[in-house]
Amino acid sequence: GSAPAATIVIFGATGDLTRRLLVPALANLVRDDLIKAEKFAILGVSFEEGDDASLRHLLAEFCTDCGDVWDRLQSRIFYLKGDFTEGSTYEAVKAKLGEIGFANAGFYLAVAPTFFGTIAEKLGATGLLDETETAFRRVCIEKPFGHDLQSAQALNAKLLEVMDERQVYRIDHFLGKETVQNIMTTRFANNLLEAVWNHRYIDHIQITAAETVGVEKRGKYYDATGAMRDMVPNHLFQLLAAVGMEPPNSFGAEAVRTEKSKVIEAIRPVKPGEIASFSARGRYAEGEVDGQGVAAYADEPNVDPDGSTETYVALKLFVDNWRWAGVPFYLRTGKRLTARDTEIVIAFKPAPYAMFQSTDAQRLPPNTMVIQIQPDEGVGLSLSAKKPGPRISIVPVNLDFTYAEEFKVGRSTGYETLLYDMLIGDQTLFQRADMIESGWAAVQPFIDAWSKGGRVETYEAGSAGPIGAERLIGNDGRFWHRIGSGEWPSN
Ligand code: BG6
Repeated sequence: GSAPAATIVIFGATGDLTRRLLVPALANLVRDDLIKAEKFAILGVSFEEGDDASLRHLLAEFCTDCGDVWDRLQSRIFYLKGDFTEGSTYEAVKAKLGEIGFANAGFYLAVAPTFFGTIAEKLGATGLLDETETAFRRVCIEKPFGHDLQSAQALNAKLLEVMDERQVYRIDHFLGKETVQNIMTTRFANNLLEAVWNHRYIDHIQITAAETVGVEKRGKYYDATGAMRDMVPNHLFQLLAAVGMEPPNSFGAEAVRTEKSKVIEAIRPVKPGEIASFSARGRYAEGEVDGQGVAAYADEPNVDPDGSTETYVALKLFVDNWRWAGVPFYLRTGKRLTARDTEIVIAFKPAPYAMFQSTDAQRLPPNTMVIQIQPDEGVGLSLSAKKPGPRISIVPVNLDFTYAEEFKVGRSTGYETLLYDMLIGDQTLFQRADMIESGWAAVQPFIDAWSKGGRVETYEAGSAGPIGAERLIGNDGRFWHRIGSGEWPSN
């Protein structure tokens, strides 16, 4: 059904996130009748000069696909100029909410993370977070949630001083991706898979988020952050949690979030002496991506050329629990790599006995399940089959399904589900405080060790990443799945 009547107050209404993702997603929800335009309003708040008309004009530019939906939506957009640090801004928000007239409000903090604490505190102090039986008050924030364990704990404490965990919607946009949501369904709706989803049958798991883009205009943020903080405790751990979690008692938000949190909590803390053999870091040099020459990271704007911020990181982690005992999880993510490829590879153990006396049998690739998250969403399973002919020759064959062929769905921003769920009060796809903190706790030993130095290799832009990453997995007698190819390296 359609969402209850509400106003979404967007702090940072003129920013990139609002323009490129939030408003187009809200427009798609109106198009699909999941939001009724007449029962909905957007109140944009920002420090810039402007009025309702100027905000509508600004947002229209990014709503090129909105068609007649825009006509219905635009009259529901309002603007308030205000300083996020001033109490008067919040009094004005309160008055404006009264004028608009809906009891429910969701506050979306599309602002720099340094403002999260302040805005929450002022919302609380103005009484804007007081709920009643008939009025919800919810707050959406998006990563980064702190930059280490301590700051993440401080942020959570600050939020929970003025609101209940029930009111906090911490967004990880990976959870808005259909394929990520589908992991849990694929696992728990298919008994066939769940039966082999453990250390007895799985040799190892690889989680890859490879990007071709560089740091773009985000040098200031990225150079202070690096690939580890930017991608691992959040996005990659969401993927790890989805493949690694135990079956929840139900699909209810608390049941699901509890199981996810438990897997992350079970990640074995790396010991100081293991850092070097359990990780690799790299930074891109100039090179060629998609046929275009691109600059080195050190030459990107707002980047310290002599710094040691990594743009690539690979890790080996273990999840210390019954299901995953001894199964390595190899994680890697980087910018300016060969191809855009976000995938999870489940590499199964070989058959226990090789009865095929051919040399092919020894070179058999393992059964592999690939959950492709980007760019061509789908799931593939590779099996071994006999190649027709008098000789026994065994080759890998694929059983594949792609979203595009199966469901004929258009692309969405990924924010539709998240915004809708916030409006209907379903927290399943949002992160609970404990998961954020266990995520940071798992990466903290690496971050601490790196803050004291250590090697950041150089890799050519457009390559598969630094040599150290090959060594990390190669030392265990394994290989990375080839980025962008859906295949194992041929030997
Ligand atoms: C963001 C990171 O959270 O996720 C970016 O800050 C990264 O650096 C992006 O590029 C990746 O998301 P997606 O959806 O493009 O895979």
